[in-house]
Amino acid sequence: MSIILETRDLAKSFGAVTAAANINVTIHEGEIVGVIGSNGAGKTTFINMVTGYLKPSQGSILFRGKEMVGLSPRQVTREGICRSFQVAQLFPELSVLENMLIACSMLGGNLFNPFSPLKTKANLQAAQAALDDYLIGEYAHAPVSTLPQGVRKLLDIAMAMVGRPSLLLLDEPTSGVAIEEKFGLMDTVIKAVINSGAASLFVEHDMEIVSRYATRVIAFYDGHIIADAHTTEALNHPQVREYIIGSELHREQAEGVRYAAN
Ligand SMILES: Nc1ncnc2c1ncn2[C@@H]1O[C@H](COP(=O)(O)OP(=O)(O)O)[C@@H](O)[C@H]1O
Ligand SMILES: [Mg+2]
Repeated sequence: MSIILETRDLAKSFGAVTAAANINVTIHEGEIVGVIGSNGAGKTTFINMVTGYLKPSQGSILFRGKEMVGLSPRQVTREGICRSFQVAQLFPELSVLENMLIACSMLGGNLFNPFSPLKTKANLQAAQAALDDYLIGEYAHAPVSTLPQGVRKLLDIAMAMVGRPSLLLLDEPTSGVAIEEKFGLMDTVIKAVINSGAASLFVEHDMEIVSRYATRVIAFYDGHIIADAHTTEALNHPQVREYIIGSELHREQAEGVRYAAN
């Protein structure tokens, strides 16, 4: 399969903090890749650099062979790289359908124009179809502020996908989502991504989810990649077990204790 994204010696420093260094990643068309690493490991920094939200201190990001460094987030989106955020970026006072209509009206990297009519027939049809694809059509008229976290996350991802990206970057798509809803959310998202033919990188802390949905795993530790391999191999890598999976278990246990104490 052909290469869609290639980063070369990508690095980012914030003053004395090295958030990313020597990031060399190659992603192929249609690949579904899990990104793991403890908090502060550099996962979001990596996504922010690839999507134009952060300018790398060094290195190169080639998307279909074209340099992305220096492009704005909107220009990167137009090239075919879309993303979701750790905290869904939505208009909370608007309905699900209105949020989706705005995404549809901004297709092709257009700026949102408050003077052009949103509710054209074509826009409405496209928006409703997109909501149905993500199984959230029933919430169309509910204000976003009243929705459970899982529905918000699905809406945010569905809005990122209306641009028909060939690469979708998901920053912790299941964070804040109830444990019993996580697999349903990922089933819906990954199915839609596979149907669209896009490649996807998703950041995830739950190793069961990573094992189920990723064919390959990239593991970040302290701003570096410590493993990049098929999922089973990466999750069995000694450093990944010691530095990432071990600390995730500690985190879950600590949170479990906290929940039990509440
Ligand atoms: N805007 C920023 N200014 C200063 N330091 C930052 C900034 N963004 C991230 N960092 C630092 O870079 C490191 C990596 O952060 P991040 O990429 O957010 O990690 P992750 O997403 O893996 O939790 C951390 O040490 C974090 O404190
Ligand atoms: Mg992060």
